[in-house]
Amino acid sequence: MSKTGKIYGINGPVIYLKGDTGFKMSEMVYVGKEKLVGEVISLDKDRTTIQVYEETSGLRPGEIVEATGEAVSVTLAPGILDNIFDGIERPLERIAESAGAFITRGISVDSLDMEKLWDTTITVKPGEVLHGGDVIAEVQETRAIVHRCMVPPELSGTVTFAAQNGKYTIKDHIVTLELEDGTEKELTMMQRWPIRVARPSRSRIPASVPLITGQRILDTMFPIAKGGTAAIPGGFGTGKTMTQHQIAKWSDADIIIYIGCGERGNEMTQVLEEFSQLVDPRSGNPLMDRTTLIANTSNMPVAAREASIYTGLTLAEYYRDMGYDVAIMADSTSRWAEALRELSGRLEEMPAEEGFPAYLASRLSGFYERAGMMHNLNGTDGSVTIIGAVSPQGGDFSEPVTQNTKRFVRCFWGLDKSLAYARHFPAIHWLTSYSEYLIDLGGWYRDHVSPKFVDDRNRFMAILNQENSLMEIVKLIGGDVLPDDQKLTLEIAKVIRLGFLQQNAFHKDDTCVSMEKQFKMMEIILYLYQKSRELVARGMPMSVLKAEHIFERVIAIKYDVPNDNLQMLDLYRQEIDDFYDAVLEKNA
Ligand SMILES: Nc1ncnc2c1ncn2[C@@H]1O[C@H](COP(=O)(O)OP(=O)(O)OP(=O)(O)O)[C@@H](O)[C@H]1O
Ligand SMILES: [Mg+2]
Repeated sequence: MSKTGKIYGINGPVIYLKGDTGFKMSEMVYVGKEKLVGEVISLDKDRTTIQVYEETSGLRPGEIVEATGEAVSVTLAPGILDNIFDGIERPLERIAESAGAFITRGISVDSLDMEKLWDTTITVKPGEVLHGGDVIAEVQETRAIVHRCMVPPELSGTVTFAAQNGKYTIKDHIVTLELEDGTEKELTMMQRWPIRVARPSRSRIPASVPLITGQRILDTMFPIAKGGTAAIPGGFGTGKTMTQHQIAKWSDADIIIYIGCGERGNEMTQVLEEFSQLVDPRSGNPLMDRTTLIANTSNMPVAAREASIYTGLTLAEYYRDMGYDVAIMADSTSRWAEALRELSGRLEEMPAEEGFPAYLASRLSGFYERAGMMHNLNGTDGSVTIIGAVSPQGGDFSEPVTQNTKRFVRCFWGLDKSLAYARHFPAIHWLTSYSEYLIDLGGWYRDHVSPKFVDDRNRFMAILNQENSLMEIVKLIGGDVLPDDQKLTLEIAKVIRLGFLQQNAFHKDDTCVSMEKQFKMMEIILYLYQKSRELVARGMPMSVLKAEHIFERVIAIKYDVPNDNLQMLDLYRQEIDDFYDAVLEKNA
C-alpha cells in the first residue's frame, strides 16, 4: 500500500503537503487526479515540498499525492537512440508536427516502446557467474549501434536460466540469476536508474585521447579529451548552438546525447530533421542512428528542465557502461541555472549572487563531475564528454553561471561578439579560450598525427599573440611605420585567422576537416612564413611579397583542396618555392 498525502498549497511547479506524510527525500510521486509526475525536494515533520514536472494549472488543494517508493528514474533499454524525449524521458511526438500540444499530462506514456520485438542474441549460459555490468544480451538497436543489455550494477549471481536467441520485447524475461542469498532474480533487457545518482564504474582513466570534432579551432588550438569537459560561453547569436550542432554532427563520439534545455523548439526540430538526413562520415548511417535528443524547450515546464540535465547524463553513462564514447551537448546550461533560480525562489530560499541559489556552484560541479573516461564494471572502457553552452546576459562573462562553470571545466571556448559581428565564424576567440588538455593529449598527437603537431600549434599561438601586441601599436600610430618583419607577422597572423581559424559550417569541404588536413594546412602556413621571413631578411619589402598574391592563395586552401584529394596540398609547397624564386628574380 503506497503512502499518500493531500495537497495543501500550490505555487507554480511547487506544491506543499501538511503533516508527516512518510514520503522519502527525492522520491517520485504522482500528483492529483491526472497523476502528474513530481519529486520530493524537501521534507520536515510538518511539511513536504514537491516539485512537479508538468504544468500544474487546474490542480487544487485537497487532491491526492501518491508516493511511488522509487526515486525519479529513467528506463534503460533498447529504443533510446533515434528518439526524442522530454526532461523526464517521456517520448515526444515529433515537435515539428504538433507544435504546442507536446504531450498528454500524467503517467499515461511509457518511456520506451514496450511492445516492439527486438532481434536478441543472448550472450550467457546457465551456470555462468555474472556480476553487475556483465552483458547478458545484444540487440542491433540502430544500424550504427549494438545495444548491450547488462546486469544491473548492484546485482551478481549465477545464471539458472537463459532464453534462446530470438525476438523479445524489453519486458520479456530473458535470464534468471540466482543471487548469493539464494533468491532468484528475473532479468529483462530493461533496467531503471535514478537520474541524480551517477552510475558506478571501476575507476577513472586519465584523459589521453582527443574528441576529434573536425573543427580546426577546437582540434588544433583548444582540443577536448574524450571524457573531458568544455564550456561554450557566448552572448546572443554568437554561435553556441551552431558549435554544438557541428560537434554533434562531426565528432568521433559513438553516441550523442543532445539536451536542448530552455532553448527554442525549432532548433530541436532542426536537429531532428537535419540529423535524419545527414550521414555519419565514418559509418555511412544517418546521424540520428547514434543520437538521442532531450528537449525541454523554453515553453515547457521549468522543473522538468532542471531534471533534463540529469536524465541526459544517466542515458550517457548507460551507453558508456557498454563501452561507448558518448558526448553530451547541453544547450544551454544558463537556462538550466535559471530553472534552479526559479524553483529556489518559489521555495523562498535565501538567494545568493544575482538571485541564483547558493548551491549553484555545487550543482554545476556535480554536473561536470559526471564526465570522464572510465574503466567500466564489465571491464570495457567508455567515456562521457560534456560540452555545455553558457549564455550570459549581454555576453558578460563575469556573471555567476559563466564564472562558476569556469571553475569546473578544463576547456573554455569563449565566443566573441565582435568576431561574430564581423562574421568570423566560429567566433571562438583565440585569446580568451584555453584548453588544459593540451599537455595530456600531446602524446596522442605525436603518435597519431605528427611529432611536430604540438610545436606547430604553439607557433600558431605565438604568432597570434604577437599580432595582438603589434595591433596595440598599429592602433596608436598606424601600420606603415612597422618594420617589414613585423608587417610579415601581421600578414601571417591574418592567414592563420582567415585561412585556418575561420571555418565555414555551410561549405561542403570546410564544414569538417580531418586531422591530417588540419596539420598539413598548418605546415603550409608555417612554410610560407619561413620562406617569407627569409625574403624579408634579404631585404625584400613586404609590398613586393604581397604583390605575388601567395597569401591569398594559402588562405583559400580550405576551399580549394577537397577533402578527398589531400595530395593537392603538396603542390602548395612547390608554389611557395616558385614565389620565393620569383621575388628574388624580380629584385635581383
Ligand atoms: N561556424 C559557423 N559557420 C557559419 N555561420 C555560423 C557559424 N557559427 C554561427 N554562425 C552564424 O551565426 C548565427 C547564430 O548562431 P547560433 O544560433 O548558433 O547562436 P547562439 O549563440 O546559439 O544564439 P542564441 O543566443 O540566440 O541561442 C547562425 O545562424 C549562423 O548564421
Ligand atoms: Mg542558441
